Amino acid sequence: MLNIIPKPFKAEELPGKADARGGFAFSSAPWEKDTARFLKNISPAGGAKLSVTVKQDALLGNEEYTLEVGENGVFISACSGAGYAYALESLRQLFSAGGGLLPCVKIHDKPRFARRGFMLDAGRYFIPVNEVKKFIDFMLIHKLNVFHFHLTEDQGWRLEIKKYPLLTSEGSKRSHTNFNCKPHGGYYTQEDIKDIVEYCHERHITVIPEIDMPGHMQAAIHCYPQLSCFDRKLPVATHWGVKHDILCAGKDFTLQFVKDVLDEVIELFPDGYVHLGGDEAPKMRWELCPHCQAKIKKLGLENENQLQAHFISEVKEHLKKKGVRAITWNEDEISGKAPTDIIWTVWNVTEKELHKMYAEMERGRELINSSSVPNYLDLTYNKNPLKAVYLQPVDICKKHEKMLGAEASLWTEQLPTIKRAHFMTFPRLGAFAEAVWSEDTARNYNEFLARIPAYEKLLKSAGAVRIASVKRANPGKLFGALEQLWFNKVQLCWHGLHNLIDDAKVKRKYGKKQGK
Ligand code: ACM
Ligand code: ZN
Repeated sequence: MLNIIPKPFKAEELPGKADARGGFAFSSAPWEKDTARFLKNISPAGGAKLSVTVKQDALLGNEEYTLEVGENGVFISACSGAGYAYALESLRQLFSAGGGLLPCVKIHDKPRFARRGFMLDAGRYFIPVNEVKKFIDFMLIHKLNVFHFHLTEDQGWRLEIKKYPLLTSEGSKRSHTNFNCKPHGGYYTQEDIKDIVEYCHERHITVIPEIDMPGHMQAAIHCYPQLSCFDRKLPVATHWGVKHDILCAGKDFTLQFVKDVLDEVIELFPDGYVHLGGDEAPKMRWELCPHCQAKIKKLGLENENQLQAHFISEVKEHLKKKGVRAITWNEDEISGKAPTDIIWTVWNVTEKELHKMYAEMERGRELINSSSVPNYLDLTYNKNPLKAVYLQPVDICKKHEKMLGAEASLWTEQLPTIKRAHFMTFPRLGAFAEAVWSEDTARNYNEFLARIPAYEKLLKSAGAVRIASVKRANPGKLFGALEQLWFNKVQLCWHGLHNLIDDAKVKRKYGKKQGK
């Protein structure tokens, strides 16, 4: 058994060991930055160095590599920096597991899916740049290649936009969080973002920013109340849950705002994708709003869901003109209405609903699987155990070419500290990485478990501050129930009641004018 996660495509173990306790000496290295980073992450104990020879091989795929470890040296071949970096990550894992003594082996490795993502929610809790970078380091260790950065939320706007300075001067701060009276805030300057994007690119990771719309916009509405249907003066949200005041889709100002914001976003994130959110956008304000209703009438639409499809379509066209592809979460209400050239990150689909996804792919839509179970890493281990993450099929509709890959999502409502965030992420990220990188036929859950001790050692050396034990990550009935009880307790905030009261207020004030 080789201590490498995710498991390589093919590996032939040979007799003998190679001694790299003195570190490595590269005789040739076409990709200098990757080599330098690798050497920085290796702590040799002293003694002779093991030689490493690198060959560029144009016949290999972009992320494919071969790695041969022999007693006299290491040979790597790759076509590009990505494949080379993955070879080095595998070498690093062998080095770490064996304390510098490597098993002799011939590896040929390549990924099962082209897109292997990780989403980080910096909206609910701001995550400092150095901690974001640590997550990016973990992504490379797991051979993940798409960083989806969720930057705006009801509870905080985290991205500096020069044209709308209030978004960060006001919108990045909230007075308290649920029943915790401490204020919370933070945002990324445009210079921070350039630094993070460069950090990702050096690690062969594409970056996709998410500006969630028309829902999840209360922080922006706090700064610019005219973005909402009734120009409501609202605080940056202080409680979790789905908010009912969303962007008004009937006002010209809203579309102008969104386009202005996105124009800055695509300058900062040059990889050709923007995630537009689109999830959890309740329509009770739109039903009462004269602007939204006038727009529905003018466009000859049937209802508010069609208005959302129209809104997202206009924004998508704006991006398309600039050569940028739009992605959204899938939402049942606008299924069949949203243009099929928008990629969907699938999140709320149960096994029973898979046929809907198949129909979408037949219509030409590309999908990324981020089904909440098994791909939401913030869910309790009771709800989403390690084993379920590992054994997931990923390709929920059986080898459909439109299934681009999968994404592990880390929402942060219940993760106020990095320690908690790491605890929920590991070891599930390892299971996810293997599901999305390694062929189905190569995966074996028990053998994966046997690799976990070496994996934990590696994660700790890379800066993981807390890792769930396998027992915690697959809780039994009693522990699972306790965990769920704790989770439900922290969910016990009053947003449900708050929404109810607020809806009644809005209805009383504006409902009559519309004759509703
Ligand atoms: C989501 O979990 N609301 C995408
Ligand atoms: Zn409106």
